Amino acid sequence: MRVGVLTGGGDCPGLNAVIRAVVRKAERVYGDRVVGFLDGWLGVLEDRFITLDVERCRGLLPRGGTILGTSRYQPFMFDDGMDRVHATLERRGIDALICIGGEGTLSVTEKVGRRGVRVVGVPKTIDNDIAGTERTFGFDTAVAIATEAIDRLHTTAESHNRVMVVEVMGRNVGHIATWAGLAGGATMTLVPERPFDIDEVCASLRRRHERGRYASIVVVAEGARPREGTIEVPEPAVDRYGHRRLGGIANIVAAEIERRTGFETRVTILGHVQRGGSPTAFDRVLSTRFGVAAIDAVHDGAFGTMVALECGVIVRKPLAECVSEIKTVSPEFLDTASVFFA
Ligand code: F6P
Repeated sequence: MRVGVLTGGGDCPGLNAVIRAVVRKAERVYGDRVVGFLDGWLGVLEDRFITLDVERCRGLLPRGGTILGTSRYQPFMFDDGMDRVHATLERRGIDALICIGGEGTLSVTEKVGRRGVRVVGVPKTIDNDIAGTERTFGFDTAVAIATEAIDRLHTTAESHNRVMVVEVMGRNVGHIATWAGLAGGATMTLVPERPFDIDEVCASLRRRHERGRYASIVVVAEGARPREGTIEVPEPAVDRYGHRRLGGIANIVAAEIERRTGFETRVTILGHVQRGGSPTAFDRVLSTRFGVAAIDAVHDGAFGTMVALECGVIVRKPLAECVSEIKTVSPEFLDTASVFFA
């Protein structure tokens, strides 16, 4: 078979490990030829690709980013997008396409699949917000980076008796914030799933400081929003692909805390540090398992599916099911995390 691979959306630690695993099993076990389309769907639209083989994938397991490049362009942004996709796949004799991406890329993959392309999806994102899988690769790495940052902020916060507000990624969900907040012993964590009341945040900090703890760490997910009728925050700008550009809510939260409590407050926005660099051992293994499972799915003819982690086992789920909603943090987990607030 001739199999195409692409990586779409934001990059994420573990992408190269998936590519390596697909190529390894495709070449050594199935005798396939693999091509990697460059810059996500754009490479398919523009017929730009490289040939992938085991030799070319040497050293990829620990390497961050994606050797294929990525973008948020997709066929449905262009009137003739699907015609161009079909033309490229036909010209290159591609029998199936493995699409490694987050919510946006997988939604497009599902739509392209309904238009006659034989697709298999692999869920990637540091945000861990894809339904149908307990984990996406990249999440464990992001949590480890955020946790280390929180550990470091503790000592400087304590030395200066300051409130440190640390903003983590996650888009519209608080998985990274909740995990890193819990692992790092944060004073409190603000997530999109539970809009915050700044009065309550400040009251908790005051109570904590009255008890003699003068340093606090407040973890804020980039998508966290205040409860309606409390403080105003500007609507995020939208990028050229129609994506809301999040980031900066920590500045508003910190300014309000300092103004209302008088506690000296500083802001750290972790940003893209969370998704750069080498994947953790967990993410390397999950990416590898996903890659092997994806090429197996191709050979089983399981098109229109996504590989997923369920109870520790790799399974296949219908793509349509996985892209119909996002996976938010469960109320039970949020309640557990809140036991340790303030
Ligand atoms: O989806 C992954 C993610 O890193 C989000 O956490 C973040 O909101 C977004 O991508 C940022 O994307 P970019 O800066 O690449 O547009």
